[in-house]
Amino acid sequence: MRYNKLGSSDLIVSEIALGCAQFSSQFIKTSKTEADMIAIMHHALDLGITLWDTAPLYGDGYSETVVGKALKGRRDRVVLATKVSQGYTVPEQVWESCEQSLRRLNTDYIDLLQVHWPSAKEENYMTVAAIAKLVKEGKVRAVGVSNFNLAQTEEALCVFPIASNQLPYALVWRYEEPLFEYCGRNKVGVLAYSPLGEGILTGRYDQTTIFPPGDVRNQCVFFKPEVMPHALQVTAAAKQVAEKHNVTPAQVAINWVTRRPHITSAIVGSSSLAQLAQNAAAVDWDMDDEDRALLQAASEAYHASAPRFAHMWDT
Ligand SMILES: NC(=O)c1ccc[n+]([C@@H]2O[C@H](COP(=O)([O-])OP(=O)(O)OC[C@H]3O[C@@H](n4cnc5c(N)ncnc54)[C@H](OP(=O)(O)O)[C@@H]3O)[C@@H](O)[C@H]2O)c1
Repeated sequence: MRYNKLGSSDLIVSEIALGCAQFSSQFIKTSKTEADMIAIMHHALDLGITLWDTAPLYGDGYSETVVGKALKGRRDRVVLATKVSQGYTVPEQVWESCEQSLRRLNTDYIDLLQVHWPSAKEENYMTVAAIAKLVKEGKVRAVGVSNFNLAQTEEALCVFPIASNQLPYALVWRYEEPLFEYCGRNKVGVLAYSPLGEGILTGRYDQTTIFPPGDVRNQCVFFKPEVMPHALQVTAAAKQVAEKHNVTPAQVAINWVTRRPHITSAIVGSSSLAQLAQNAAAVDWDMDDEDRALLQAASEAYHASAPRFAHMWDT
């Protein structure tokens, strides 16, 4: 595992981050107990995955609560990232949201507090300023944003030196790439989420897959009938590279993201110990130019032919 400085902040983060949306009913199977989830988090630390990303939105506070339990006795080893939900824009709401997160996470500071989605009412400057105030109070170490476009990132930077922008990025989702260069130039780390395209790039799913009610994949664009055949072409290319290197398609998809310019960390969701071990090892090998060209061609073909959506979930 390699470690990178997160933008202009003092935080040092692992190149693979633990996505904690998995610790909620949006992903995790009902057969998994809280102890199973805590075991995944503890093993993540053993594997060197020190950046953990959660949010009040994940399971309506459940993810933060179970993360808080996993942190017991290990708080100083984790770079803890959480978020302020959309709609919590004015200072009192941001303060209250932070207090609730601190309570659920059972800690007295958050390493990175991110604005989860930009405000529809264009009040982002106010939200960023409110989090900056929490930095001064010692409750938060760094300010981040998520899903911010170029203009919104510029606006945020006028208010405070934000450490990061968390954005979707995968072989099947490259629409935000033009923003990465700007982030790099302005010392804003890029945290890439959904590097497996919510699992479509793992080769596990096809047109016959049925997700349980409540699973976020029921809304995810990659699993729509008009998109899936295009996405599975990219998965086929990942499989080809995987066979050559004796790795898995998931490891190819993650490795590709972490080696792209300006990426600080890839936030990967693992819903079992086996997935976690595989995902942590995704950065232990190197692709060659031929592999990169194959993936680039498949990814470009996808972006040229698959229908485009405003975001990954068509609700
Ligand atoms: N800022 C935002 O707006 C935002 C949005 C989305 C996500 N995120 C963050 O990013 C994290 C990851 O994103 P994500 O969960 O959307 O997508 P992802 O990491 O692309 O995909 C995760 C899913 O892929 C499957 N998977 C993972 N590793 C695998 C492996 N080695 N082999 C086979 N299947 C594997 C699992 O599916 P099963 O569960 O079916 O086994 C897992 O739930 C989240 O936990 C969250 O922290 C942030």
